[in-house]
Amino acid sequence: MEKPFVYGTAVFGENFTDRVNETKRLKMNFEAGVNTVLISPRRTGKTSLVYKAKEQVSDPEVKFVSMDIYDCRDEYEFYEKFASSVLLALATKVDQVVDLAKNFLSRVIPKISISPDPTSEISLSLGIGPSTPNPEQVLNLPEVIAQKRGIRIVVCIDEFQQVGEFDNSIEVQKKARGIWQLQKNVSYCLFGSKKHMMETIFKKRSMPFYQFGDMLELDPIPAEEWVPFIISRFETRFMRISPDLAAEVCNRVALYSSYVQQFAWNVMIEAEGEVRKEDVENGYEMLIRQNASYFRQQIAGLTAYQMNYIRALAAGIHTGFTTMEVMTRYRMGTKSNIAKIEKILQEKELIVKDNGQVEFADPVFPVWFKREYCK
Ligand SMILES: Nc1ncnc2c1ncn2[C@@H]1O[C@H](COP(=O)(O)OP(=O)(O)OP(=O)(O)O)[C@@H](O)[C@H]1O
Ligand SMILES: [Mg+2]
Repeated sequence: MEKPFVYGTAVFGENFTDRVNETKRLKMNFEAGVNTVLISPRRTGKTSLVYKAKEQVSDPEVKFVSMDIYDCRDEYEFYEKFASSVLLALATKVDQVVDLAKNFLSRVIPKISISPDPTSEISLSLGIGPSTPNPEQVLNLPEVIAQKRGIRIVVCIDEFQQVGEFDNSIEVQKKARGIWQLQKNVSYCLFGSKKHMMETIFKKRSMPFYQFGDMLELDPIPAEEWVPFIISRFETRFMRISPDLAAEVCNRVALYSSYVQQFAWNVMIEAEGEVRKEDVENGYEMLIRQNASYFRQQIAGLTAYQMNYIRALAAGIHTGFTTMEVMTRYRMGTKSNIAKIEKILQEKELIVKDNGQVEFADPVFPVWFKREYCK
């Protein structure tokens, strides 16, 4: 039986709701060859949206290459991932992968491994390192293949902010931007969840990827969309939830996509037939428990000052952290400390700062934190 609620992985079909405008815009960008930068907090629906938009592109001349670079630790791992993803996506048969590699990349040693398990993917290793082949050739690989075949290619790179972590990050970004922006038959969809890092890469004037493409920042799916979605998912199990309680489910987690689905699933487990208020309460408690170990991990190793900053935010302070009163009351050290604390908490994705206003990145975290640390 199809799962009524899915969380934690990309969603498709009946588990995907709304995002009509974003899907349309992304699809049009794909078809027109417009580069897109997609930013949204973790678990809010980037991967699902990109899948959805890809699915809707019907032009047979447009081919997609997708990769996730979260585990690439340096530029060579990135080039390796980039080249192997391009080759695997564009080869029409397995044997063609090696030919393509040899034709289009110099001095690589392609090795293919196909696992006996038919559901698992083929993996390709090219042995890309500092001496072979040159990065420009790798970065230009999709364009060369596209020209040769008379096709257009959209390269989708998930967790792109990882590029910002490389030792020679700026140099790599300069190379990539310099080459990618000249390509006529290839466009890019670069997305990632580390908002802070993504914004540094794409929104800072001094950075190579400044104004690289259409910036798409995902807003939360509105309650008007969530409520009928939740109600209809309960109906598939012959259960009923009132519009008020469905609204409670999405609003209590601030419309945060993955939490809405996880919470709704908890409520479904609790309820029988008709959902009662206490099922919602129990489902919420379950949600906090389910996420506690992740939250604990997130704050592990924070200094006393950083913890105090979180206490202040949890107490409802969103601005004016550098005022004497707030700094003294919450013991956060000196004024110059505040900027450092905020930088680290943003990097750890605990807080987000917009126009001087600070908020928790995660709507459930402060509820848990207050219970554990603000007694
Ligand atoms: N359009 C949608 N309709 C319904 N639920 C959604 C939608 N988009 C996302 N979700 C919910 O959010 C979860 C995470 O989605 P997805 O993996 O696409 O997000 P992401 O932003 O790519 O996450 P990550 O930051 O982990 O890469 C899904 O499992 C689902 O519960
Ligand atoms: Mg994702």
